[in-house]
Amino acid sequence: MAFVKAPCKRRAAILGATGLVGRTILALLEERGFPLDSLRLLASERLADRRLPFRGESLPVEPVSSHAFDGVEIALFATKNDISQKWAGAAREAGARVIDNSSAFRYQPDVPLVVPEINGATLDDLPWLVANPNCSTIAIVMALAPLQRAAGLERVAVATYQSVSGAGAQALEELERGVRLGLDGQPPARRDGGPPFAFNVVPHIDRFEDNGYTREEMKIVWETRKILGLPELPVTATAVRVPVRVGHAAAVNVRLSRGIGPEEARALWREFPGLEVVDDPAQARYPVPLAAAGRDPVLVGRARRDPSQENGLEFFVASDNLRKGAALNAIQIAEALSHAEAGAS
Ligand SMILES: NC(=O)c1ccc[n+]([C@@H]2O[C@H](COP(=O)([O-])OP(=O)(O)OC[C@H]3O[C@@H](n4cnc5c(N)ncnc54)[C@H](OP(=O)(O)O)[C@@H]3O)[C@@H](O)[C@H]2O)c1
Repeated sequence: MAFVKAPCKRRAAILGATGLVGRTILALLEERGFPLDSLRLLASERLADRRLPFRGESLPVEPVSSHAFDGVEIALFATKNDISQKWAGAAREAGARVIDNSSAFRYQPDVPLVVPEINGATLDDLPWLVANPNCSTIAIVMALAPLQRAAGLERVAVATYQSVSGAGAQALEELERGVRLGLDGQPPARRDGGPPFAFNVVPHIDRFEDNGYTREEMKIVWETRKILGLPELPVTATAVRVPVRVGHAAAVNVRLSRGIGPEEARALWREFPGLEVVDDPAQARYPVPLAAAGRDPVLVGRARRDPSQENGLEFFVASDNLRKGAALNAIQIAEALSHAEAGAS
């Protein structure tokens, strides 16, 4: 799908504007020149008199309230599930379309879960609510979609390496503090009692489900199926937090209906918008979070045949979890919705 700038000026709001995703949305609206009539920044009442810079101005951050969405056409939500659930109705009543970054609505059958390069056509129906997928899942499905189209997917097994910014601003502060203190001794315990982020690798993101998987792992399973439109696709995942500030990576193993080699895989990825092939191991060129952070494309490489199974392929992806994993994907959805609206009127 080609990306075109939203055709007419919009009145927008960001709920959770002060968080990591909210601030990235703000930066990207500016970077992409998203046409805006007005922009309202909303957060909690935690701190008074906050302002954030935008297009040479200093915009006030307002506490969210029942009238906060009056006149708003596009509401970008970057809050936890309970806050998104609390305010989505108010935004709808005010006539806004909501693009939500939390997982509160992702598994409702009537709510589209969208990666515009893959299933952006669902936005032509002009839904009032669109769910933005999980940050690791977005990068993984971006690399899977062209393989699926060319060779058919039969099974997907994933292990993620997820940065600490994926857990929000407080967690990132904990990592940074832990790294400083950990240089001279043990990194301190985390506020929630979990193992320290610093100098550690933690196979636990979100809560544990009854089946022994974490919810983060099940998000990858459920969301990969929903976005690719393959409800029966066997998917298994292990989601791991690593002491990286920004940028999620994943090792992905697939079984395809037709065997394809690394050359063909790279050719398919090169044709797919939003992907960048980085695959020259002899020159130490492969996807890494530091190279993905601050950039839009999902990096894909380390492609190789999996000799342990027929039609198996193994590869590695890295992407900026705050950009394509959240803010960028949400803004691409807003741009596509705006375009679909203009086409419908
Ligand atoms: N971080 C990622 O890489 C990533 C990727 C994909 C999806 N997501 C999802 O995006 C959402 C935001 O994540 P984040 O990492 O940006 O979190 P964050 O850094 O912790 O930011 C949370 C935001 O929510 C606001 N907030 C908290 N309580 C509120 C309340 N009662 N009313 C209104 N606003 C409130 C905070 O405002 P105050 O400053 O006033 O507290 C802040 O702006 C989460 O659902 C997360 O799962 C995150």
